[in-house]
Amino acid sequence: MARLERNDEERDLLARAARAMPGGTLGNMRLAGDDAFVVREGAGSRIWDVSGNEYVDYALGSGPMILGHAHPKVLAAAEEALRKGSTFFVENAYAVELAERIVEAVPCAEQVRFTTSGTDATFQCLRLARAFRKRDKILKFEGGFHGTHDYAVMSMRSSGTTPFPAPEPNSAGIPKAVQETVLIAPYNDIETTASIIEQHHDELAAVIVEPVQRTIAPRDGFLAGLREVTERFGVPLVFDEVVTGFRLAYGGAQEAYGVTPDLAAIGKIVGGGFPLAAVVGRGDLLEAYDADAVPEEGYVPQAGTLNGNPVAAAAGLATLAVLREPGRYAALHATGAHLRTTLQRLFDEAEVPAVVSGVDVTFDVYFTDQPVVDYRSTLGNKPLKRVFDHTLLEHGVLKTPEKFYVGMCHDEADVELTIAAFEAAVAAVREA
Ligand SMILES: Cc1ncc(COP(=O)(O)O)c(C=O)c1O
Repeated sequence: MARLERNDEERDLLARAARAMPGGTLGNMRLAGDDAFVVREGAGSRIWDVSGNEYVDYALGSGPMILGHAHPKVLAAAEEALRKGSTFFVENAYAVELAERIVEAVPCAEQVRFTTSGTDATFQCLRLARAFRKRDKILKFEGGFHGTHDYAVMSMRSSGTTPFPAPEPNSAGIPKAVQETVLIAPYNDIETTASIIEQHHDELAAVIVEPVQRTIAPRDGFLAGLREVTERFGVPLVFDEVVTGFRLAYGGAQEAYGVTPDLAAIGKIVGGGFPLAAVVGRGDLLEAYDADAVPEEGYVPQAGTLNGNPVAAAAGLATLAVLREPGRYAALHATGAHLRTTLQRLFDEAEVPAVVSGVDVTFDVYFTDQPVVDYRSTLGNKPLKRVFDHTLLEHGVLKTPEKFYVGMCHDEADVELTIAAFEAAVAAVREA
């Protein structure tokens, strides 16, 4: 059977999905038309669909599976925890230890409060900042992704024409009132951002930023500039490190770029592929979660049935233990750098205007001849991107429509196969 052909079992599953679930999807990654598939299983860097097609996986579960699928150490840790019971609603030793590891690793983390999703973690960071600052407004960046709560979907995929700092709601069903509490700034433009903060500082509860916004790297001085201006006005700075945490470096983007925020949301890697995320940061901000430590009007309740789930915490601990092995990050960055620079070289040699944007461990292609520095500069040629992604899939390489995640599981054979797929995809784009 040619690649991407679907057998009867997979076709049936896709049809059942379409009947039982809106759009036939989980709401996440939806590949177009015949590219849509149902996953059968994964092992290491590879996944297989129900029809038996094999892919080198650069989606990696949208990022958590940095060690690859079904990693033996993570599997063993999760199995051991699972045999002792899957959830309790009181403290468990795995979660306590994971909180300690996070405090050791992440520069801003004096304390940790677990949640079960990155969406919840970013939402909680904003609420905590509001409780602390006793102000309502938040500033986020155009194109910044912080999950799907009401504040996060403001100018998440905007038209790119709304003047700053006005927000554009990118979801139906959001109360008008939310729109009035969000200001939008252009990523990587510290002058415009600082002037919005200077103008609105007395209403601002927080500034939230993805240190690497999607696959746009911060310009030199951008994060430090944000730190300076927020500190000057006493506005808590929140790093959304759901993607960058334990990925750019063991201590995340704050370690990699040497800029420490007041709060951070972490997720994905830290849960080892299970539902776990966290709010981390300054003790005097997280104190609001402790009813005994703050006056009643300053208390922020945050119960969650699966907060700090022991199976997820055990998987997270096992993942972090592997990440701490010497040389792990150097090897990851080297693999990513090789893939990125090779892809850019192939486009350049083929004289296809394209920018391979981001950082070594997570990057994507934009079909433009302009530098990619902010959301508006990513609005390049989308049909070409679809040709590129589709051709990669046909050649056994899976990425999300938004990015490649390079993992510690990707070995030389994966890289070789991937570069052959790059060559085919660049040729397909050139001919498109
Ligand atoms: C930067 C960022 N923040 C928040 C989230 C939301 O996390 P979750 O999907 O766990 O809710 C994501 C998810 O991809 C993300 O990339």
